[in-house]
Amino acid sequence: MIALGCTKSTNKEQLVIGFSQVTVKEPWRVIFNEKLKEKAGEYGERLKLIMLDADDKTENQVEHIKSFIAKGVDAILISPKEASGCSKAIQEATEMGIPVIVLDRDITYKGYAAYIGADNFGIGQAAGKYAVDMLGGPGKAKGKVYEICGALASTPGQERKNGFFEIVSREAGIEILGGLDADWKLDKAKEITQDVLQVNKDIDIIYAHNDPMAYGAYQAAREVGLEKKIKFLGIDGLPHEGALWVKKGILAATFLYPTPGEKGLEVAMGILLGTKKIQTGERIILSTATISHSNTK
Ligand code: FRU
Repeated sequence: MIALGCTKSTNKEQLVIGFSQVTVKEPWRVIFNEKLKEKAGEYGERLKLIMLDADDKTENQVEHIKSFIAKGVDAILISPKEASGCSKAIQEATEMGIPVIVLDRDITYKGYAAYIGADNFGIGQAAGKYAVDMLGGPGKAKGKVYEICGALASTPGQERKNGFFEIVSREAGIEILGGLDADWKLDKAKEITQDVLQVNKDIDIIYAHNDPMAYGAYQAAREVGLEKKIKFLGIDGLPHEGALWVKKGILAATFLYPTPGEKGLEVAMGILLGTKKIQTGERIILSTATISHSNTK
């Protein structure tokens, strides 16, 4: 059976939803899980939520999906490591009639019930505009930018890069010095920045695809006394992390990337209870915002 046009209605006493989270090592994921658990609590005994941690490995997520299918769960939520690896398993679950909601990082298979996340290309563009303004404004911007990428096998990594590039590449005076993949990790970003600053200290802006990597880059710059000269841009905007670092003047700005767990659960429950109709492959886009000095004072 193929779950198309996803509406289901059930009178089962308890619904079971399986969630495969890519990792719990990053602060954004911890908050994501906390908010999801809190939301699950609102459904009381009506819902049993099984939350699994994939330890940053696609193969574990494939196993999670298989185990959810074997358990006969009513719906699956997944926030995948990268775009391609889980597609086949998600297709299998979908074809068995289990609604699958993909959260934050999109996948290549598009027959799932829904995708929920923010507009990563738009966030990249917003960061690009911020960089252009810091370097003198459209048509006049001049300076050197180093980019630290999140995982480029994931859609947020690709889109944050492409959106940023679309804006800054219009400026003849901006040079992008390249950018390595730090897989969203603070330590890797710090190492990359240490290496880069050994050969080139002439950098005006470091644009990192998330706040932990921006902070890692900042730490490396501080070791060689360049933390004031270089401006840092991040993404996520968690109150105790990116937003706080902006307030402290560590980052020039960050861009809010809301966690999609609560919405994901709400949509899954809506499908199962028959109160929400969605089109197969529906995209639900969460809103974002720029967090800079002007709005954190
Ligand atoms: C956490 C994270 C966030 C980032 C998101 C992108 O694992 O790296 O910092 O915004 O994933 O998918």
